[in-house]
Amino acid sequence: MKNILNAPFVEEMKKITANMYRLGWDERNGGNISYMLEESDVAEYLDLTNVIRTIPIGFDAAELSGKIFIVTGTGRYFKNIEFDPANNLGIIRIAKDGTTAELLWGYEDGGRFTSELPAHLMSHITRLRKDPEHRVVMHTHPTNTLAMTHIHELDDKKFTHTIWEMCTECIVVFPDGIGVLPWMVCGNNEIGVATAKKMEDYHIVVWGLHGIYGAGKNMDEAFGLIETVEKAAELYMLIAGHPHVNTIRDFELKAVADAFGLDYRKDFLDL
Ligand code: 13P
Ligand code: ZN
Repeated sequence: MKNILNAPFVEEMKKITANMYRLGWDERNGGNISYMLEESDVAEYLDLTNVIRTIPIGFDAAELSGKIFIVTGTGRYFKNIEFDPANNLGIIRIAKDGTTAELLWGYEDGGRFTSELPAHLMSHITRLRKDPEHRVVMHTHPTNTLAMTHIHELDDKKFTHTIWEMCTECIVVFPDGIGVLPWMVCGNNEIGVATAKKMEDYHIVVWGLHGIYGAGKNMDEAFGLIETVEKAAELYMLIAGHPHVNTIRDFELKAVADAFGLDYRKDFLDL
C-alpha cells in the first residue's frame, strides 16, 4: 500500500488551500473544499474495508452512496493544511444508507468534515446530474467579491451582467453566468438546498455578504471560475464611485460569445 501523504489528491488539496490562504481569501477557518475521488485511485493508498469511524451527515445523500470524497475539516485553517494534512483533511465515503459518512482517513485528532457539507454534497448531486465528469466543489471568502455584495444588487442577471462587463473574457470563462443568494444563515441544510438549486443553472454561486462557491471537473476549473469572478469584482471595486467613461456594451459581449462559439445566457444581455 502506498503512503497516502504522497497521494496526488492530498498534494492537490495542500497546494490549492495554501494558495487560497495566501490570496487572502481564507481567513482563520474560512472556506472549504470537497473533491470526489475515484475508488481505484484511493484503493492504492487505503484499505477501503477499514472504516475508522462513522459520522452522521444530517440529510439523505443516498444519490452519492459509495462515492468517496476528500474534504476539509470544520474549524480548520487553510494555512495549516499543507503542514498537517492528516488532522485537517479527511477522506469519507457516503454509506449505503446515504445519511452516514464513513471515515477512511484523516481528521486524526477527532475532527469532522466542514459544516458546509450539505451545500457541498447537494451541489455535487446537482452538478453530477448535469455532467458525469464533475468532481470539485470549492467555497471561499474572496475579499472583492464579498465587498461587491455589500454595494451591488443581489440578483443573478444584474450581478452576472456587471461582472461580465468588467473584463472581456468573463463571459468566455462563465457563459452560464453567476447565481446569487441573499444573506442566509450558513452551515445548514437550507442554504445547501438553495445553493444546489442555483447549481442547476450555474457553476458559480455567490452567497451575499459571505463568499462564493465554484464547481468544476477538477481543482483548476473550480478555482479558475472563482479567481476570474474575484478579478472582475476587484475591478468593480476599483472603479466604484468613478465616472464610467468606457464600458463593454451588450452587443460587444455578444460578439465575444459568438466569436468563441459559446452557449451563453442570452437573456442576461439586453439586445
Ligand atoms: P468550516 O470551518 O465548517 O468549513 O466553515 C468555514 C466556512 O467558510 C463556513 O461557511
Ligand atoms: Zn464560508
